[in-house]
Amino acid sequence: MIKIGPYRVSGRAVLAPMAGVTDLPFREVCRASGAALVTAEMAASNPRLLDTPKSRLRRADRSEAEPRIVQIVGTEAAQMANAARYQVEHGAQIVDINMGCPAKKVCKRAAGSALLRDPPLVEAILRAVIAAVDVPVTLKIRTGWDPASRNAVQIAKLAADCGVQSLAVHGRTRACRFNGAAEYDSIAAVVAAVSIPVFANGDISSAQKAHEVLRKTGAAGVMIGRAARGNPWIFSEINELTNNDAAAYVLFTDKSLIPNEAIRRERLIINHLRRIHSFYSHFEFGDSRPGGQKTGNNCPDLAVKVARKHVCWYFDQLKHVVAKQLAGNSANAPGLATGTGEQVLAVHKKDHARMLNTALETARSRFNKLDSQAAQSDFLQHFLGKLRTIGDIAA
Ligand SMILES: Cc1cc2nc3c(=O)[nH]c(=O)nc-3n(C[C@H](O)[C@H](O)[C@H](O)COP(=O)(O)O)c2cc1C
Repeated sequence: MIKIGPYRVSGRAVLAPMAGVTDLPFREVCRASGAALVTAEMAASNPRLLDTPKSRLRRADRSEAEPRIVQIVGTEAAQMANAARYQVEHGAQIVDINMGCPAKKVCKRAAGSALLRDPPLVEAILRAVIAAVDVPVTLKIRTGWDPASRNAVQIAKLAADCGVQSLAVHGRTRACRFNGAAEYDSIAAVVAAVSIPVFANGDISSAQKAHEVLRKTGAAGVMIGRAARGNPWIFSEINELTNNDAAAYVLFTDKSLIPNEAIRRERLIINHLRRIHSFYSHFEFGDSRPGGQKTGNNCPDLAVKVARKHVCWYFDQLKHVVAKQLAGNSANAPGLATGTGEQVLAVHKKDHARMLNTALETARSRFNKLDSQAAQSDFLQHFLGKLRTIGDIAA
């Protein structure tokens, strides 16, 4: 079992921090779907930005399941230490340091993955943060600044020496951004070099891929980012696969087609929508300090926008499942007149999959025009109920 300070982690698949995605409602959904750990979106360490509306949204929420992990990003050791202390005072139980983000806004100030070019500064930040708080400190890195200067092993050893308690490695350099394939060899080299738990990250889009990456890298766990958007079930699927042997897993695939599972997923999506609205409507948007910035957004508007984003990811993921069905059925789909019973059934399934696809496309564009919680909620409940009926026929 993975251990981070006093916390025993039951599971090997964790949610990656993603700005604009891993807010509290989504973290709750991922936990409910089996994520062993979830991390909030990165929070600035600049003292002027510690208490902005955006930063307040990214703080730990004491109602959240433990351990509450907050990620900080910055350039200066003293500021990072101060930010870590501030986050712990506001409920963080693990502080994660971002040295993996390639965003220009972050890298211009030598923060995020740009720090990897400067190991002495990395060391100064790690030592300052670890000395400042009495909770575990973890680190997220890339494999280096660019392919000519990959130094993940050096940084990982440094981190372990400083007292970092676990490491997540996105298998790309900063220069690679999100291009090319993730380098699992580089992650395996990090795993071999340190004895702290390492989470392998990058391009893990299915339970099978997670299994393969765990085997290839020897990592303690996997960290899932983009593939969790609209698809939080990936965590339970990985848990099932890693707790069972690969052959048994075949029994669990295509769970979206099993009626009880479909109902469970439907409830989770509806609950996610509800939570987005309750979370953002309690949030004071707009800077209340004298001279503070007014954003023009009020809370319900923000909730509507956040809901559109997540619900459209669910629609996109469902479309992905349907596309797979279409591809799978096309190989044995002859004309109706000449087909065997099985082949005729395949043609019917294909027709239903097409119907499902059209319904999802229409729903996506209609949902994006709805502008209140009530309208979004009514539409989603009605649509998912209808979808289940079509899906049952397709299955
Ligand atoms: C929209 C988005 C926002 C991200 N924000 C953060 C962040 O705040 N902190 C961080 O360390 N990494 C961030 N990342 C990087 C992810 O944590 C992860 O390392 C990367 O997406 C690769 O994993 P994946 O292939 O599973 O998506 C972000 C990625 C995306 C796509």
